[in-house]
Amino acid sequence: MKNFETLLIHGGLSIDETTGAVNVPIYQTSTFKQDALGKTRGYEYSRTGNPTREALEKLIAELENGKYGFAFASGLAAITTVLSLFKSGDNIVISDNVYGGTYRLLNQVFNNFGITFSVVENGDYEKTITENKNTKAVLVESPANPLLSITDLKKVSEIAHKHGILSIVDNTFMTPYLQRPLELGADIVIHSATKYLGGHCDIVAGLVIVRDEELAEKIAFLQNSIGAILEPFDSFLLIRGIKTLAVRMDRIAENAQAVAEFLDKNDAVKKVYYPGLKTAQGHDIHSKQAKNGGGMISFELKENYDIEKFFSSLKLVMLAESLGGVESLVCHPASMTHASIPYNVRQELGITDGLIRLSVGIEKEEDIIEDLSQAIGKAAK
Ligand SMILES: Cc1ncc(COP(=O)(O)O)c(C=O)c1O
Repeated sequence: MKNFETLLIHGGLSIDETTGAVNVPIYQTSTFKQDALGKTRGYEYSRTGNPTREALEKLIAELENGKYGFAFASGLAAITTVLSLFKSGDNIVISDNVYGGTYRLLNQVFNNFGITFSVVENGDYEKTITENKNTKAVLVESPANPLLSITDLKKVSEIAHKHGILSIVDNTFMTPYLQRPLELGADIVIHSATKYLGGHCDIVAGLVIVRDEELAEKIAFLQNSIGAILEPFDSFLLIRGIKTLAVRMDRIAENAQAVAEFLDKNDAVKKVYYPGLKTAQGHDIHSKQAKNGGGMISFELKENYDIEKFFSSLKLVMLAESLGGVESLVCHPASMTHASIPYNVRQELGITDGLIRLSVGIEKEEDIIEDLSQAIGKAAK
């Protein structure tokens, strides 16, 4: 295997074989002429297959060290397609933090079709899996959105396989540059490629990667049947974004480590969640399964700070949904990304009304810290 940084540029179908173009062309077509009845040139209709999307799918499969990749119109479209592997009566065990939209999809959509879910109790996957005899999969985020809680992915996959069920990992927060769940035993990896893989806050996209041929056939069938595929232009933009993943992530992680240390030392800050801090929950496990702490930090200010004032005082860091772009973004999970989780469940999970989530960008580290510092100062009551 080539080095990962090189694969980002040369993996998949990096050039157009017909013309030699160094970028994969955008095949902006919905259909393909057939030479005779039943005689195609490999493509028939773009929902089923499109060369630009296929180049991206081959690339992400290589990057996650899988065999088969699938591209979708959003991260949630990818998750919806994967959850469609299950049927009424099946149960899914999820990590104690997941993206609010994933929770809503399970709680308010798949529940209506009889697919239930349980949140892991005290990190004990074995116990939670066996409590429901119809558990068919675990769905884990590590680090999880928004508290960056860590799950031992190798151990969870081993437990899942011991019980004959699937291990599914949402690797959005890490990307394959920092963590490769298939190598740790997972069966299915999911991404909201809207985030770090796209990297520029200019597309919404989702990806799924597997190694097993039978599973790949089922997902290909569902991708075509459900139809929530990624368009050719967005596939092109995603390939372009992926080329700079390593350089962006190196800078992002370096900045995030510095910002987390700054927050950790700041008297106004009650708690910092960042897996790169030695004191963080799961730091040792995370260090074994991932390259570094990544770019996401969550924190709480002490009671005598007004978080609305904090948000409105920021000048550089933008208050916005989403994460993983070159620009630093901040959000309020309780009213934004995780608002669809009922209040009492949020409290149980530790997603307090004072929690602030920060996606660190590639700006100059001192400028990010200066902006946070002045906004914290103005937020003092
Ligand atoms: C961890 C995680 N998974 C999935 C999603 C959903 O992805 P999308 O917004 O691309 O549908 C998000 C979105 O924030 C996320 O943070």
